[in-house]
Amino acid sequence: METPQKAPEASEKKVLFSGIQPTGIITLGNYIGALKNWVALQDEYDCVYCVVDMHAITVRQDPANLRKNTLELLALYLACGIDPEKCLLFVQSHVPAHAELCWVLNCLTSVGELSRMTQFKDKSRKHADNVNMGLMDYPVLMVADILLYQAALVPVGADQKQHLELTRDLAIRFNNRYSPTFTVPEPYIPRQGARIMSLQDPSAKMSKSDPDENGFVAMTDPPEVIARKFKRAVTDSLACVKAGEDRPGVTNLMSIYAAFTGRTFGQIEDEFAGRGYGDFKAAVADAVIAALSPIQAEQKRLLADKAYLHGILAEGAQKAARLANKTLAKVYKKTGFYQL
Ligand code: TYM
Repeated sequence: METPQKAPEASEKKVLFSGIQPTGIITLGNYIGALKNWVALQDEYDCVYCVVDMHAITVRQDPANLRKNTLELLALYLACGIDPEKCLLFVQSHVPAHAELCWVLNCLTSVGELSRMTQFKDKSRKHADNVNMGLMDYPVLMVADILLYQAALVPVGADQKQHLELTRDLAIRFNNRYSPTFTVPEPYIPRQGARIMSLQDPSAKMSKSDPDENGFVAMTDPPEVIARKFKRAVTDSLACVKAGEDRPGVTNLMSIYAAFTGRTFGQIEDEFAGRGYGDFKAAVADAVIAALSPIQAEQKRLLADKAYLHGILAEGAQKAARLANKTLAKVYKKTGFYQL
């Protein structure tokens, strides 16, 4: 089925780009830090949302799972409220320009810049048996993703801040060395919820690769699992719902509650004044379940219609390639590649 996706070039709005890796588990952190804001920004910007499968293979993936997870992530984007009539949706590996621009940018990036990246250092430690070149080069591919579409805004969680700084540096470096070519993008990191922490260790980021499943809530967790994970969430012994730097567990739960209820920390403190953590955790779980249940049902419904999803991706790949190739052609020309 044809879906009328709009191409960013057709309007005056600024372009927004973002992506998530199709690595199976998508967490509440991905939702609050990124996806939820993508939905909120889709009217204001010309949005390009990508399923970044090439980033996913920096860590070993089972091919059949990667294929399945790619379609599931597209269905999740849609189920969360991303409108394919307003946004351009596609899979990264369908547009060869991403890898092509990455190569040119590699030649402008120093090894030192990449080896200093926090995520590279973390992931190298976690996957010590597979510290591949892709893992190190990952941020440059991300830079290519963003710059190809001349994005002005990139909504991400706080863990991507360093990669956005590299994006700005490389855009400026290329523009200065050759001539103005790339839009220098701004990160959009929400003031609240940009770093949702593990429910078991509130000093660590909530992560899908956490070996302790109680540390994260997956977007596909059923209600009873969500309720159980919040019930077991680590807090402290003060038994008082109040935010503070010295109270990371409670503050994290408050951030999650705030994201789903729209309430401020002050309002949450008033709501639970004199009440214990049991009540509070149950309320957080209820708010999360109420938000995720319809998303889960919609994702399931969409996954039953593969032809519809394929249609979106086929059209998205075509439109994305057209935009990306326009930028790539300029880059190749300025770089000095012989033109036919
Ligand atoms: P990824 O797939 O690890 O995560 C997707 C998005 O979720 C955010 N996020 C979080 N936000 C708040 N709290 C958390 N605990 C949390 N965990 C993850 C991430 O910041 C991210 O916004 N490199 C990117 C994907 C990417 C990309 C891009 C993003 C590739 N190309 C171009 C923007 C633009 C990544 O690995 O995200």
